Amino acid sequence: MLTERQREIVKATVPLLETGGEALTTHFYQTMLAEYPEVRPLFNQAHQQSGAQPRALAHSVLMYAKNIDRLEGLGNLPAQIINKHVALQVQAEHYPIVGACLLRAIREVLGAEIATDEVIAAWGAAYQQLADILIAAERSIYEQTAAAEGGWRGARDFKLVKKEAESAEITSFYLEPADGGAVIAHQPGQYIGLRVMVDGLEQRRNYSLSAASNGKSYRISVKREAGGKVSRYLHDQVQVGDVLQLFAPSGHFTLQEGSKPLVLISGGVGITPTLPMLQAALPTGREITFIHCARDRGVHAFREKIDALVAANEQLTRRYCYDQAGDSDGVDAQGLLSTDQLGQWLPASRDADVYFLGPRGFMRSVKQSLRELGVPDAQVHYEFFGPAEALA
Ligand SMILES: Cc1cc2nc3c(=O)[nH]c(=O)nc-3n(C[C@H](O)[C@H](O)[C@H](O)COP(=O)(O)OP(=O)(O)OC[C@H]3O[C@@H](n4cnc5c(N)ncnc54)[C@H](O)[C@@H]3O)c2cc1C
Ligand code: HEM
Repeated sequence: MLTERQREIVKATVPLLETGGEALTTHFYQTMLAEYPEVRPLFNQAHQQSGAQPRALAHSVLMYAKNIDRLEGLGNLPAQIINKHVALQVQAEHYPIVGACLLRAIREVLGAEIATDEVIAAWGAAYQQLADILIAAERSIYEQTAAAEGGWRGARDFKLVKKEAESAEITSFYLEPADGGAVIAHQPGQYIGLRVMVDGLEQRRNYSLSAASNGKSYRISVKREAGGKVSRYLHDQVQVGDVLQLFAPSGHFTLQEGSKPLVLISGGVGITPTLPMLQAALPTGREITFIHCARDRGVHAFREKIDALVAANEQLTRRYCYDQAGDSDGVDAQGLLSTDQLGQWLPASRDADVYFLGPRGFMRSVKQSLRELGVPDAQVHYEFFGPAEALA
């Protein structure tokens, strides 16, 4: 438990964190990744390089310090962290490593004059308080997942049974458990953790499940990144019959039940979680608008599948927007998706549940447009294919 004085010290460090938070966490990651090889495979090096992961951690530490008196003020943040941790299999024994590196970074970045033993002790107690909350929540999910039908703990072997190109750069991978057993049901929008060895090094990545739950297998659909370690490995080297290791589904970007019109908006490979959402929503009879943006026809994945669903379901409308469209592409708009265009496609009342995902610039623009168009914030949901970032 934090003492009153420790609480005061933690709150007093908020302004320091606001100006130096990112330097602190960058320093923290460098030390941790250099000195603790056992946690290295959990972290995506590209996220460190871009600064997105240190920024996400700095943001969460800051929010935590601001809300030390009322942790419920953290809103969605703990759920987001817990889901990400579970999908990458963060364990209780990792927390002391992170704690020690964080305190060391605070000491080294702030200097001994500011980071006195008392300040460090206060932050040590605060870290432990947050760590205890996360460890307990994560343990409970691991236990529930292991106990559920088709569930498991840690990594499970899955055999690749089918590999299917969906566009010039996106390929679907159909995976069945190597032990022949059932698989735990997932909610539309959830993702799995994948553990692979690439060039002798362990890598972990998350991939959204791109088909509805069927109890027997999973499908992921992966975009080949030109300089990407895991996506290139999957596209270029993994063949039908090969075995991959999966961590059980996780994630809180999931379709909520409701009867309001539903709008699913995706850019590029951001289409993957919206596919099971669409599958789940169709039988409910609600009105659905499926909006997809792609650079051009060649990279537009799942078009035939969506068109077939539109033909069979009156309640479903599709809208396609290409950066560059040809005369025969049959799209509804060309160029980057504008606020005006989106406004014409949304239900006139704006009282809709909206889910969106895509590249960062696309997400910033869609979020801004939805706000300008008057869709209530509480009805707007989104996820990131990487560390969470502010969309302001
Ligand atoms: C919840 C969630 C769901 C996801 N769902 C999907 C999905 O359904 N489909 C999908 O395709 N992806 C999805 N992703 C993204 C996926 O997890 C991977 O991040 C993606 O496949 C890229 O991984 P990679 O190993 O191929 O590339 P990485 O090796 O991680 O590289 C990513 C990019 O960074 C660049 N890069 C790498 N190293 C450096 C460096 N040192 N300096 C500068 N740049 C560098 C690379 O050139 C590349 O463009 C999801 C991510 C999350 C978090
Ligand atoms: C109190 C302690 C911790 C806090 C506050 C914290 C916070 C966070 C935050 C905010 C994110 C980003 C979430 C998102 O992008 O959606 C994150 C991701 C992550 N965390 Fe933690 N974390 C803690 C402990 C740990 C521990 C002990 C480990 C294990 C070594 C760990 C490993 C990871 C990994 C691997 C990711 C994903 C990184 C990536 O996307 O590359 N975290 N954490």
